Amino acid sequence: MNCIITGASRGLGKAIAEKFAGGGYNLCLISRSEEALRRTTDELAGKFPSIRISSHAFDLGDKQQAIQCGDWILGLGDPVDILVNNAGQFIPGSIHNEADGALEKMMEVNLYSAYHLTRVLLPGMMAQKKGHIFNLCSIASLKAYPNGGSYSISKFALAGFSKNLREELKSYGIKVTALYPGATYTDSWAGSGVDPVRIMEAGDIAEMVYAASRLSPQAAVEEIVLRPQLGDL
Ligand SMILES: NC(=O)c1ccc[n+]([C@@H]2O[C@H](COP(=O)([O-])OP(=O)(O)OC[C@H]3O[C@@H](n4cnc5c(N)ncnc54)[C@H](OP(=O)(O)O)[C@@H]3O)[C@@H](O)[C@H]2O)c1
Repeated sequence: MNCIITGASRGLGKAIAEKFAGGGYNLCLISRSEEALRRTTDELAGKFPSIRISSHAFDLGDKQQAIQCGDWILGLGDPVDILVNNAGQFIPGSIHNEADGALEKMMEVNLYSAYHLTRVLLPGMMAQKKGHIFNLCSIASLKAYPNGGSYSISKFALAGFSKNLREELKSYGIKVTALYPGATYTDSWAGSGVDPVRIMEAGDIAEMVYAASRLSPQAAVEEIVLRPQLGDL
């Protein structure tokens, strides 16, 4: 079984990779930094010597690279069992004063990346009539909050992508799950001053993704909402 994870060099993507590696999945890992990917790949290969790990650096915010990434995955010749669209970036800001281009950047990295990559992989998944796509949305896909700005807009759009994909793929046996995590401690939070125990751990999100992937073919988890026990910050 094969699991493709974008934004896998650190944070939630890495935690999800580790969880599926523990389940015996072969991994295909993508992020922009070749060096960070190599470190993560080496670490996982050391912990899970029996699985096969492929990795490649692509900037998925660039349409051509997202399509090349899909072609590279297809070229590996393995069926796509699990696709985790996790790559994303958080630039805080408010619509009225964020930098010009913030919306375009957030849409490219947080929405178009998943859209273009998924479109390349879908024909094969539809032909095999099985597979599971996870999209890392956010609490910011569900509600507006101060400093959400274009990040929140792009995450609302990703939720729309996920809902439409779910409808389209029902009859193809392909599951689509949208995850809506609240604050989870990763590099995104390093230096923020937030106490790591006030918010969730990356492993919490990975547990839920893996659990959702384990159900019978006739059961689909459509949405997973996770929040810190004490609620949003
Ligand atoms: N942490 C949270 O509190 C939280 C809450 C809700 C939702 N989320 C969502 O969960 C996902 C992961 O968040 P995280 O906190 O784990 O983020 P993170 O620690 O910043 O890691 C982001 C990952 O995505 C990769 N990446 C970023 N831009 C990319 C691009 N253009 N092309 C390819 N890879 C790219 C990064 O590697 P490179 O830098 O090497 O590219 C890294 O592997 C994101 O979509 C985020 O919006 C996070």
